[in-house]
Amino acid sequence: MALLRRAENNRIAQGSPADHQQENTGTHPQRRRRRGRPQRVNAADRAVAEYHQLLVEEINLEELSRLDPAQQRVRLERVMSHLVSRQGPVLTSRERQTIIRRVVDEALGLGILEPLLADPSVTEIMVNGPDDIYVERSGRLEKLDYGFSSAGQLMQTIDRIVAGVNRRVDESSPMVDARLPTGERVNIIVPPLALDGAAVTIRRFPTPFTLDDLVDKGSFDQATSQLLTACVKARLNVVVSGGTGTGKTTLLNALSGQIPDEERIVTIEDSAELQLQQPHVIRLESRPPNVEGKGQITIRDLVRNSLRMRPDRIIVGEVRGGETLDMLQAMNTGHDGSLVTVHANNTEDAVSRLETLASMSELNMPYQALRDQINSAVDIIVQLTRTADGARRVTEVATVASRGREEFLLRPLMRFEQEPLQSDRVVRGAVRLYEVPAALADRLWLAGNPLPEFVPVEDGAVCRQREVTA
Ligand SMILES: Nc1ncnc2c1ncn2[C@@H]1O[C@H](COP(=O)(O)OP(=O)(O)OP(=O)(O)O)[C@@H](O)[C@H]1O
Ligand SMILES: [Mg+2]
Repeated sequence: MALLRRAENNRIAQGSPADHQQENTGTHPQRRRRRGRPQRVNAADRAVAEYHQLLVEEINLEELSRLDPAQQRVRLERVMSHLVSRQGPVLTSRERQTIIRRVVDEALGLGILEPLLADPSVTEIMVNGPDDIYVERSGRLEKLDYGFSSAGQLMQTIDRIVAGVNRRVDESSPMVDARLPTGERVNIIVPPLALDGAAVTIRRFPTPFTLDDLVDKGSFDQATSQLLTACVKARLNVVVSGGTGTGKTTLLNALSGQIPDEERIVTIEDSAELQLQQPHVIRLESRPPNVEGKGQITIRDLVRNSLRMRPDRIIVGEVRGGETLDMLQAMNTGHDGSLVTVHANNTEDAVSRLETLASMSELNMPYQALRDQINSAVDIIVQLTRTADGARRVTEVATVASRGREEFLLRPLMRFEQEPLQSDRVVRGAVRLYEVPAALADRLWLAGNPLPEFVPVEDGAVCRQREVTA
């Protein structure tokens, strides 16, 4: 039982709350140093560790394990309250509440990460060892002024995360991707690979953003939203491209919201993050090899399998290898309307990256044949970029205008044209919409989807230009 194991670990902790109370006003005199980095062992952390030890000595673990999580919390809070009172009236009521909350948080669930996970303004949690924690709020990083009470406590939290997804993390398997029951994606890397202590990165998906939410957040304007909606509804194959953390999965999810309810959708991901709202969705997740190196199921296996599942749409979280070719072939053989993301810094990069990834397949297709596949499969590329103000923006929507084995030729449909940054560091720019090529406009029109308001100007290229600011 996890609690018993935790109790064992906690008995290793040293000191007592009495020592702590003498130290309450100062920092620990023997600040430890770890590989040149100071480790914060402050009085509050020590107190948490020490009360934690007292708590597990005091409670009946067998009995506690029979309670549900809410009752466990109430019981632990009550015991902690007694323990703190027993140590004398040294703490203010605020300090008392803080210490009770921290000790109980550590004893249950994901410890000090729990309140961060409950905070809707936090979009990412980054733990760099036990005493160095950052969170991202509104695109900006903030360092927390507290940490785990010890490296052991951090490892216990990690154990709880990976146990929930039937994975393990230790020296022989030091990197793990997992998912919390509430959907958050977690990456864990532990020593010896992580030099300064176990690193945990949790990406939160508070509530899936819709296209309108993203418009409200300034990621793109209403006209771009309308254009993207028309493309998804008309079953064009759309590739969402962007660097790490630029919002690819978020946009993919929002775009998928435009797929009609009556279609059968198969989603394929390494770690299931998409939260589709349609009633008819089959979610597939790849599987890493087991301890003996067996049993791996790749994205590629799943793409191939999905073709036999009568999908109306296939959505692949991200293509990273040979599965790209299977995906392109699927798009070219009747599975249109597919959505996929790829890691690339601009739209040209995205097509050449697709070419490189497709070439990783064991089929060894000549490059010209790959280009043929991409030219006929990919209709739209949506480029995401994180601008200097931390905002995630759609900076380009382009269509693949080249055909057959021609060199790639992209035509922009929309571009965010940024002005040079001023001293206030506010990102300003204009959304420029371009004329939709006739063949594409016909496909959209025939599918009954209105295009954004169309106001051609003299040079024939620019439809409209609007000022937007961050
Ligand atoms: N337009 C947006 N405005 C504000 N926050 C956003 C926006 N898009 C995404 N986010 C937030 O940014 C974080 C990263 O988003 P997301 O996972 O979609 O990026 P990604 O490009 O798929 O990342 P990765 O390359 O790691 O797969 C998430 O916490 C998400 O909620
Ligand atoms: Mg992603």
